[in-house]
Amino acid sequence: MEKARQEEIDQVIDAIDLSMQEPEVEPYRQYYFIKKCRQMIAQLTDKLGQRPTANVVTFGCQMNSRDSEKLEGILADIGYTFADSEDADLVLFNTCTVRENANDKLYGRLGQLKRYKEKNPDMLIGICGCMMQEAEEVERIKKSYRYVDIVFGTHNIYKLAEILNERLEGNRQVVDVVEKADEIVEQLPNKRLYSFKSGVNIMFGCNNFCTYCIVPYVRGRERSREPEDIIREIQNLVADGVVEVMLLGQNVNSYGKNLENPISFAQLLEKVVAIDGLKRVRFMTSHPKDLSDDLIRVIKENQKICRHLHLPLQSGSTAILKKMNRGYTKESYLDLALKIRREIPEMSLTTDIIVGFPGESEEDFEDTLDVVRKVKYDSAFTFIYSKRSGTPAAKWENQVSDEVIKERFDRLLKEVQKDAANSTKKYEKETVDILVENLNDHMDGYVTGRMSNNMVVHIPGQKSLIGKIISVVLDEAKGFYYMGHMVESEV
Ligand code: SAH
Ligand code: SF4
Ligand code: F3S
Repeated sequence: MEKARQEEIDQVIDAIDLSMQEPEVEPYRQYYFIKKCRQMIAQLTDKLGQRPTANVVTFGCQMNSRDSEKLEGILADIGYTFADSEDADLVLFNTCTVRENANDKLYGRLGQLKRYKEKNPDMLIGICGCMMQEAEEVERIKKSYRYVDIVFGTHNIYKLAEILNERLEGNRQVVDVVEKADEIVEQLPNKRLYSFKSGVNIMFGCNNFCTYCIVPYVRGRERSREPEDIIREIQNLVADGVVEVMLLGQNVNSYGKNLENPISFAQLLEKVVAIDGLKRVRFMTSHPKDLSDDLIRVIKENQKICRHLHLPLQSGSTAILKKMNRGYTKESYLDLALKIRREIPEMSLTTDIIVGFPGESEEDFEDTLDVVRKVKYDSAFTFIYSKRSGTPAAKWENQVSDEVIKERFDRLLKEVQKDAANSTKKYEKETVDILVENLNDHMDGYVTGRMSNNMVVHIPGQKSLIGKIISVVLDEAKGFYYMGHMVESEV
């Protein structure tokens, strides 16, 4: 995490007297438990002859990735090192439940962990995240997976040290899942996956209740962070070398509406782009129903805001959109998408589409294809509708058959891929800036970066370029990415 903040936290933790009662107020209560855990992990280190290893396995979306950074921050602070393998002293699964197959994956992997635990009696297994906000899943763990040591949900990840402490002192399964978040706890450690870019939560939860979606049930009601807290976090990140931030929320366009001093997302963005030293700003996800003209203007006027908008369509049929409770029609979505294309032509537009929502007719599906053809997405995530228990749509009877879904899914994929390949060709031979993110996994001597519009570019280059924004020539479009070469370094 940002060095200055970590030092501040360490000073407070050093001053804590563990013979005193634990504090009631956060984050001080957690600092107390972090200190207690540090002592126990130090003992374990002596016993093992080395620091114990942890492996946090993240499923799902950027919200979960960000949460995992917070969990890893706490684990690092209490003395764990990190391992790539699940044969570690602590394995924590941060789960997703947005579609059924996400759940199946987890139980398969838990079986494997049991074998590791039989070999390593000190091993701890934890499960947290969205799936643990579902009562029936927690019951299943309690009943059939007794070897799982700790279970907690999305609302209390900040309590990891307290929960771990209870497990280490009590030697039995600890389940701590709460129905709703009582507060947003700031000022806890976190460990960043990348030194040069970071996700920043601007809000938590969701109020939209799309009828297929489980997220509002497992992430709770929408809560925005105070703009001052967000700005301070980003300033600290920049001081620590971060050049790109991704502002995170399930519906960033409704940011700030419920704060005591309401502020719009467009206004927040203006404050963020004004931060000195910050080079790029991204955000995710933008709900089409709340996207304001003011936001389009702010993006247009600020080159720091990346030319990429993820604008989930879900369906192109007005009738289905109504049943989904999305709050827009085929026409209003098209108007919006085409307005953005007109106002900011260099903007890349991406989307999410669900195939086979209950009651989807051939005609409804044709409407989806029609929107895809008209908007010409730069890329699209396509999902087969998955029944989530507890959501309204799961109870509807007119579910679409598997064969029909598969056939539609394939047709949609073909359409989407055609547009994506064409859109990559657009910038061939041009010179653009990329932020270099990693070494190329497949080609020695190459690094990989992203353009402002999120397109991927591979160039010959060394590790030292990682984290830098450089100018490159896009030599050749290869379907979904470019091969290029460096012009000059910005630094
Ligand atoms: N808040 C974001 C979406 C978060 S979930 C938004 O409103 O756009 C990410 C994506 O998962 C959704 O956009 C949707 O396309 C997909 N999804 C959510 N629930 C689903 C379900 N029950 N079946 C299939 N796909 C689903
Ligand atoms: Fe789910 Fe809809 Fe909320 Fe997105 S806006 S998280 S799809 S309920
Ligand atoms: Fe999955 Fe939870 Fe994200 S259900 S998609 S990890 S908010």
